[in-house]
Amino acid sequence: MKISISFHPIVFGLTLLAILFSCQPKIEEVTFKGPIAIGTWNVPEATSEAYKVLSTGGTAIDAVEVGCRLEEANEQGQSVGKGGLPDREGQVTLDACIMDSHGNSGAVVYLKDIVHAVSVARKVMEETPHVMLAGDGAKQFAIEQGFPVENLLTEKSKADWEKWKETSSYKPVINIENHDTIGMLAMDENGNLSGACTTSGLAYKMAGRVGDSPIIGAGLYVDNAVGAATATGLGEEIVKNVGSFLIVELMRQGKSPQEACEIAVQRIVDRTGDKAKDFQVGFIALNKKGEYGSFAIHKGFSITKHDVGGNANIPSPSYY
Ligand code: GLY
Repeated sequence: MKISISFHPIVFGLTLLAILFSCQPKIEEVTFKGPIAIGTWNVPEATSEAYKVLSTGGTAIDAVEVGCRLEEANEQGQSVGKGGLPDREGQVTLDACIMDSHGNSGAVVYLKDIVHAVSVARKVMEETPHVMLAGDGAKQFAIEQGFPVENLLTEKSKADWEKWKETSSYKPVINIENHDTIGMLAMDENGNLSGACTTSGLAYKMAGRVGDSPIIGAGLYVDNAVGAATATGLGEEIVKNVGSFLIVELMRQGKSPQEACEIAVQRIVDRTGDKAKDFQVGFIALNKKGEYGSFAIHKGFSITKHDVGGNANIPSPSYY
């Protein structure tokens, strides 16, 4: 039997158009809900300062810097800036990075004696041809840029370190005082995204150890066309997963910020198995629509958000 198929030219044209349209990438409509700042952990003062910048027409990059600076200056927080817990030699060393809506970034690692690591990172981004400065070079650059030099080891952190030395037993603490690396993400009135991340790293780390926080893609990533993500917790595991970049790429593929954070945590748990019971990692993410999400391996992590609806600390869902 002979089967003959003939196409009417109009039917053929419409079919061709349908095929062509189905091959086009979907362009999602972005509904702008107004500026928003989010941060890792319970940091309402930081998100409030950031939102003040945003609600008066300031930029996302200024907002995240201001928010991180507030936590760096807070001596009570023992995981960021002044008052941060030292390494096992008793030295407080800071890591930080920042990324703007144009894809520019700056970072400092192993920075000593300068409180505002996030602002030095911004200067690296804006004033140098480089992305990252480390150790003595980072400190020298900060001094040249006018940053004051001061001892970051407070009496409290020194006393805690002296006590730790009695046993010198090393185990990263999950949710240290419910306050760890501060990562902040913001979207400004123009819908532009930026992020920043600052930490004194793991308490009693080996001298010279650097975690995820100053590593673009691991501790922080921003793509102004898609969204932004930042991380907290055991940096070694975040680096191995390039966690923040992964989350932004998942959002690019259509995942919500919440789904993307959950998948990134799941990847770490899948790779590390039972070891994940002993360490914490938390992610927060923000997309171009102003939607946000967070997820952690363990309970105790939280996200703080400030948008037109107010300033609120929200417990994060977790794997365990
Ligand atoms: N997430 C901070 C660090 O591991 O250093």
